[in-house]
Amino acid sequence: MDARRTALITGASSGIGAAFARRLAAGGYDVVLVARRAERLAALAGELHERHAIQAQVLAADLAAAAGVAQAEAAIAGMETLDLLVNAAGFGTSGRFARADLARQLEMIQLHVVAAVRLCRAALPGMVARGRGAIINVASVIAFVPTPGNVTYAGTKGFLVAFSETLQAELAGSGVRIQALCPGFTYSEFHDTAEYQRFNRKRIPGALWMTADDVAAGSLRALGRGGVTYVPGLANRVLVALGRRRLFQPLMRRVLVQKRRK
Ligand SMILES: NC(=O)c1ccc[n+]([C@@H]2O[C@H](COP(=O)([O-])OP(=O)(O)OC[C@H]3O[C@@H](n4cnc5c(N)ncnc54)[C@H](OP(=O)(O)O)[C@@H]3O)[C@@H](O)[C@H]2O)c1
Repeated sequence: MDARRTALITGASSGIGAAFARRLAAGGYDVVLVARRAERLAALAGELHERHAIQAQVLAADLAAAAGVAQAEAAIAGMETLDLLVNAAGFGTSGRFARADLARQLEMIQLHVVAAVRLCRAALPGMVARGRGAIINVASVIAFVPTPGNVTYAGTKGFLVAFSETLQAELAGSGVRIQALCPGFTYSEFHDTAEYQRFNRKRIPGALWMTADDVAAGSLRALGRGGVTYVPGLANRVLVALGRRRLFQPLMRRVLVQKRRK
């Protein structure tokens, strides 16, 4: 049997996806890095190949577009050694759903839901046949804490949690593990977009922030322990426990939601 293991990571050009790529390459995985910014991916692939003597491939694709997902599916179909799929590509928007740009919300559903489902479907037959492998779907604590301004985002992340939990139930005994990774506030480029222009990181309590590397490291450790939904960080676990209770939801909103100043 081929001893090589490959991980395909979407959203690998920055943040949590890039942190997974670095951790996995350091652990001896060959990596396939997927996102839109080809130069970023090429630079990371070069760094990982140099540093860890692993194979690092790049796939520049827009996963919110059907053709881009098809490219990633084709890459997966040709992989004999795919041991881990990390669906990390994602973005957020801010503002009330009733006034939101619908096209952007649908793009989010394409990326978070449709692309993730299609890549899981592409990866699983090979993993099941080999009796091994894992998929990490990057969701969010927002799946459990209703916060205004995040309606479609929370919906897509809630989908990923339910999808992952049920998929794992179906795959019991197959040797394939599924994780719904639910980070809280994470230092990355997520809040650097035009949509988060008015977002001020400093107004979120420091204890709620984690580094992308800590999120990736915790996720990979948790994968070995079983359990599907994984919330990294004690503060985030408290947030989720309180966020599920209606009594605490006004408090959660005060901590998490930043009013848009017009
Ligand atoms: N940061 C947080 O506070 C936080 C909290 C909870 C959950 N998350 C989730 O964590 C995941 C990673 O986010 P992050 O924090 O690492 O943010 P990030 O630094 O902005 O990274 C997002 C990644 O997704 C890729 N991406 C975005 N749109 C894409 C598209 N259409 N096609 C392909 N790739 C696309 C980006 O690459 P390109 O621009 O090069 O395409 C980038 O690599 C997301 O699913 C996010 O929802 C983040």
